[in-house]
Amino acid sequence: MELAWPTCAPAHCLCLVSTLSLILLVSCTSSSISSQQANSLTKRPAHLKMDQALLLINNELSTEKFDVYWRSDQCYQCLYQTLAIADHRMEHPSDVAVIDTRHPITLQINTTSEKTELCRINYRFREFGNYSLWVKSNHSATKDVTCEIIINQNPGYTNLPIIIAFFIYIAIFICLSLGSFLLRLNTVQNWLCKRINPVETDRLINSELGSPNRADLCSQDAHYVSWNTVPQRLRSLDTFRGLSLIIMVFVNYGGGGYWFFKHQSWNGLTIADLVFPWFVFIMGTSIHLSLSSMLRKGNSRWKLFWKVLWRSIQLFLIGLFVINQNYCRGPLSWSDIRIMGVLQRLSLTYLVVSVLELLFTKPLPDPVPQTQTCFLLQDVVPFWPQWLIILVLETGWLCLTFLLSVPGCPKGYLGPGGIGDFGKYPNCTGGAAGYIDRLVLGEDHVYQHPSSNVVYKTTMPYDPEGILGTINSVVMAFLGLQAGKIIVLYKNQHKQVLVRFFTWSVFMGVISAILTKCSTNEGFIPVNKNLWSISYVTTLSSFAFFLLMLVYFLVDVKRVWMGGPFFYPGMNSILVYVGHEVFENYFPFKWKMQDSQSHAQHLTQNLVATSIWVLISYILYRKRIFWKI
Ligand SMILES: *[C@@H]1O[C@H](CO)[C@@H](O)[C@H](O)[C@H]1NC(C)=O
Ligand SMILES: *[C@@H]1O[C@H](CO)[C@@H](O)[C@H](O)[C@H]1NC(C)=O
Repeated sequence: MELAWPTCAPAHCLCLVSTLSLILLVSCTSSSISSQQANSLTKRPAHLKMDQALLLINNELSTEKFDVYWRSDQCYQCLYQTLAIADHRMEHPSDVAVIDTRHPITLQINTTSEKTELCRINYRFREFGNYSLWVKSNHSATKDVTCEIIINQNPGYTNLPIIIAFFIYIAIFICLSLGSFLLRLNTVQNWLCKRINPVETDRLINSELGSPNRADLCSQDAHYVSWNTVPQRLRSLDTFRGLSLIIMVFVNYGGGGYWFFKHQSWNGLTIADLVFPWFVFIMGTSIHLSLSSMLRKGNSRWKLFWKVLWRSIQLFLIGLFVINQNYCRGPLSWSDIRIMGVLQRLSLTYLVVSVLELLFTKPLPDPVPQTQTCFLLQDVVPFWPQWLIILVLETGWLCLTFLLSVPGCPKGYLGPGGIGDFGKYPNCTGGAAGYIDRLVLGEDHVYQHPSSNVVYKTTMPYDPEGILGTINSVVMAFLGLQAGKIIVLYKNQHKQVLVRFFTWSVFMGVISAILTKCSTNEGFIPVNKNLWSISYVTTLSSFAFFLLMLVYFLVDVKRVWMGGPFFYPGMNSILVYVGHEVFENYFPFKWKMQDSQSHAQHLTQNLVATSIWVLISYILYRKRIFWKI
């Protein structure tokens, strides 16, 4: 199935119109589903928010008052927090509590007077449910207490909108593929072009407006032919980049309000944590491809260096502009400006990796001939000075992380602070990484709402794109650079490329398994997006090599998939990234929801907004408009 379009202009319009109407259809269906859902499928008790359920606490004990404490299973080594205090023998229910439904929860019930534990229950509450906790004593023996949880009202299945959305997108994909297949049949194409021939008017209008005349698109069929015969640019890289970018846009827009589309609170991975490192990875791959081709064309290293430096500065400044919006809290003061962010991180990573590449890469020999492929490590060993510097950088990360003494915190602390670690280090969020940022940038210049404040109730500002983590994102980009070296070195030897990608994926997977001891919290270095820990880099690069292998195989080797629709945003990534951030609050990307706590409505809004960015990037691709810096 190919999502490529014929270059005939009327057909192009037809495709656009059908896509637009399909998107409209999606939003209509899902909003009608969501209003139905509000009525019948999920009976959300009023005043409950997303990720919440209702718990009525019933005290059947004759004499005792008790306290109810709770702790999320996600919260590693956390303190219990007070949920409610239940008086004895009041009218039922004695207390109504609102409880978190993201993860299973342990409830602990203690007597108020002596703080002795009566009982403890682990339970997975479902979103928007209505539950009762019954605490009864068996006969008169006060110490023999039973606690149980009863479902008063079964919650609906709140993940249903995701499944519906999934099938709608599958349907759109099939329709578009079918449509583009039909339109590419010669007979249909000729008929359309003859039938509606807007080229003349098109030309007149354009010359009226002062644009250059466009050649007759019907007869030219330009990019098709060129792609089929001379595959210059690797489509798989743009596809992979576009895939990460689109998930990033969707996640940034809210991910339908589902917790698994938001960032993990501390250790571990959610879908949202996957995409930024992939983006960094593929940037590394592109760095190698573009620099090696420019070097081969005879550009001097100094000239390339100035180019790289200028691009990094631009990227940094754009990043600074994008993350410091005004609309939330009124105009920002200079003393509150956040300094690090996604584009800033990309900019610094780009600078370091490109300089590494410019310093040590040799003007590459032509791709090795097939006969010389016996030497296994020829894509690694010749680049040993780069590897040495990467090792030195990584040693620096390890030393700073584990040996820097942070006032008031244990050495090598990797936790979230807050109520984690039994509340011993509430202000140690992020250990050395957080400390360095607060010291160098200042507390007001780092991110104020890290994802750890949801589960771990942290109060310290912490920047997930901080300074120390940049070292590891350099490592990530360097692994991507390795993928680029493989592609260049084994040009047109698909099997070599695929085998090498797979080997790297396994190798990185093994390192990750050792570093994390295959556990979320108990490893030597847990996988952590906020810290950009080294195990996070190895795990995500393992996934990246594997995914790139798949995409490369489908798109560039077998050519059964042309990378649509991800290919288009991948070709215009800076524009889509900056655009989605800047226009986040403008109309078609956000509108007033009838029910702000409905997943279906959030999901519809976020998916429509994301689809519009795909569409915009497609239109720009067609018009050959790319934002390059
Ligand atoms: C929850 O269930 C209880 C017991 O069935 C009922 O009395 C109460 O009204 C329900 N609460 C809501 C908000 O639906
Ligand atoms: C943590 O910081 C807060 C606010 O700055 C302060 O009130 C509190 O005493 C600190 N806690 C510890 C244990 O240092």
